[in-house]
Amino acid sequence: SASEIFGSKTTMSGYTYDDLICLPGHINFGVHDVLLGSRFTKKIALKTPIVSSPMDTVTESNMAIAMALEGGIGVIHTNLPVETQAAEVARVKKYKAGFILEPRCVPPTMTVEELDKLKSTVGFTGFPVTENGQMGAKLLGLVTKRDTDFVQDVNPMTDRKTRLSEIMTPTANLVTLFEGCDLLEANDVLQKSKKGKLPIVTRGGLLVALVARTDIKKNVDFPNATKHPLNKELLVAAAIGTRPADRDRVKALVAAGVDAVVIDSSQGDSVFQHEMVKWIKSNFPDLQVVAGNVVTKKQAKNLIECGADALRVGMGIGSICTTQEVCACGRAQASAVYNVAKLARQYGVPILADGGISSPGHIVKALSLGAGAAMCGSLLAGTSETPGEYFYSEDGKRLKRYRGMGSIDAMKKGSDDRYFGTAAVIKVAQGVSGTVQDKGSIHKYIPYLTQGLKHGMQDIGAQSVDQLQSMLQEGQLRFELRSAAAQREGGVHGLHSFERKLFD
Ligand code: XMP
Repeated sequence: SASEIFGSKTTMSGYTYDDLICLPGHINFGVHDVLLGSRFTKKIALKTPIVSSPMDTVTESNMAIAMALEGGIGVIHTNLPVETQAAEVARVKKYKAGFILEPRCVPPTMTVEELDKLKSTVGFTGFPVTENGQMGAKLLGLVTKRDTDFVQDVNPMTDRKTRLSEIMTPTANLVTLFEGCDLLEANDVLQKSKKGKLPIVTRGGLLVALVARTDIKKNVDFPNATKHPLNKELLVAAAIGTRPADRDRVKALVAAGVDAVVIDSSQGDSVFQHEMVKWIKSNFPDLQVVAGNVVTKKQAKNLIECGADALRVGMGIGSICTTQEVCACGRAQASAVYNVAKLARQYGVPILADGGISSPGHIVKALSLGAGAAMCGSLLAGTSETPGEYFYSEDGKRLKRYRGMGSIDAMKKGSDDRYFGTAAVIKVAQGVSGTVQDKGSIHKYIPYLTQGLKHGMQDIGAQSVDQLQSMLQEGQLRFELRSAAAQREGGVHGLHSFERKLFD
């Protein structure tokens, strides 16, 4: 059992996920019957126990929206000015499936030629025309492919200089809906009117959103979405630091509607963090606070006693981390997760197994050792929802950047507070900067991870995360330590070459 492996007084080794293997149990249910519901914090439940890391190459609003739609949650990083981070939070809270809340608008003075250029860069063809070319301004009309194609047919040489005001369909001839309508109504209007785009306006005629028929067709249901039970807004978390100025950041994030803050620190058991947790809990008692990072029971107890609603566990084990090398401090992740989860469970505080996850099997192990959810950086980096552009390597691979928040590049943008380096003359790197391969969209990748996770839980004989963790407590969950040879045997071996396709 885990308590025999980790609890023995003679155990002097730290174990990581790869040192362990879960022994199979008895299966009396189908893989589709496995429930992944778990907890992010005391008050926030998730249907998918996966959280995206607060890193500037992983989580901004696009990622947070996608993670919440898939039943997890995203933590917006804090390497941003306060107003920008708050705006990212607000974007997630305002998200409404099927509604484009920031459609690209154009001014009536733009020429058809200029519009052609814009179309070739953005990849779509219909644009609302507003008074000043901005969202939120008075809607004057809509210009679509049909309007611009017509200009070319009449006089292809000269008429590309025509202004959009002359060729657009004016608002008076458009079908629009007032703000507050729901997607069903919008869908209905689009179908009856046979139009491709439906502007949503205020009673005063200001443009607030756009609904596109192509999006409605694509708009699948997200039954697992992490939403507020009453107002149905997606839930979102955001990272903060421990500087006095971060109190203003908390206020701005709360005003933007954030549901949880995650205190971003490589060593969470500091007086700065204790004070921050206590300040938040006394000023914003309903705001969920995730404290950390911790790897020992003592660190965990101190933060729980300050009022933490969840703990982030992991030190120096992330794919981009050099903390253990540089500072000689940290802990092997399986040992850290098991020990902190055991302590935190007595207080009803969930823990997040943060970092070092590179496969669905690692998530199975993190949950089996008591984690409420896995926090992932590299695993989710390279998906289309992460910040940053793709580029090609010399051998033709499509890549994105992924960097540690303790890398020099990231610290120069503000994350040095995570390593108590704000006032330091010399910045000591505790992370590296690298690249990861394109993984496609989160909407395909998370279902792959959760399906893998379900297969793992089925093999173990646990139909839910609750059951898995009861089995852990009762010693029914059995593990074996793996020798180096056993680890080799458990991977692909003995082939001349092979191709690895992750899912279909
Ligand atoms: P993975 O393995 O998922 O790890 O890529 C992501 C987690 O690593 C932490 N993190 C760092 N740790 N130096 C560190 O020692 C760094 O530069 C760094 N950047 C991120 C963080 O906890 C993240 O969630």
